[in-house]
Amino acid sequence: MIIKTASFITSSTKISQCPNPTIPEIAFIGRSNVGKSSLINMLTNNSKLAKTSGTPGKTQTINHFIINNAWYLVDLPGYGYAKVSKKLRGTFESFIRSYITNRSNLECLFVLVDSRHAPQTIDLEFIQWLGEEGVPFALVLTKTDKLTPQQLEKNNSVYTQKLLEDWDELPQMFYSSAVNKSGRDDMLPYIQSILDTVERYYKEEKN
Ligand code: GTP
Ligand code: MG
Repeated sequence: MIIKTASFITSSTKISQCPNPTIPEIAFIGRSNVGKSSLINMLTNNSKLAKTSGTPGKTQTINHFIINNAWYLVDLPGYGYAKVSKKLRGTFESFIRSYITNRSNLECLFVLVDSRHAPQTIDLEFIQWLGEEGVPFALVLTKTDKLTPQQLEKNNSVYTQKLLEDWDELPQMFYSSAVNKSGRDDMLPYIQSILDTVERYYKEEKN
């Protein structure tokens, strides 16, 4: 896929504020600071598109971008942000969960996890929940530039073994670094294949 145009549409704090679900949508989620906004900028080759920050909890709204006038790319707020109160976190997370389960045009949710760390309960529980809800998702191990190829291979195998405890099949997995721009050549064709499938499906529905 060639990204010809990428522009910001809107930031929403309520589901009702989000753009109408008229075109397919691909969203990004993961713990605060995992690198969601940086990955979006890397994929779109636009360092200023999504706001990034060294301080966790930067993205607190649902941010819609439109790509090639054809699909929405969505930067979701991070989950598990420790610095907000438990009550606020609960409200916030139920808002995001409700978005994920109700958004009719959500075709794939990329779940980002930090490639440096062992699988975290919060991520595994979230993935489990996506499975129960039937939400299509793929995993992205981020910040791979911080690891040697050997460390990455080791962490990857720990991750896959952990997933296979609960899943018969592994989800699609990607490895990214916003620093050395890796992962783009695998993720963009994957997104394209999803969009092609959706388009075929809509055409068949019409006939
Ligand atoms: P929230 O919006 O707070 O949930 O964070 P986020 O997941 O959007 O993370 P963001 O992209 O803002 O990045 C968080 C920090 O990690 C920033 O300091 C980035 O520069 C850094 N970072 C993101 N991706 C990478 C990467 O691939 N490699 C390295 N080394 N650092 C990265
Ligand atoms: Mg962010």
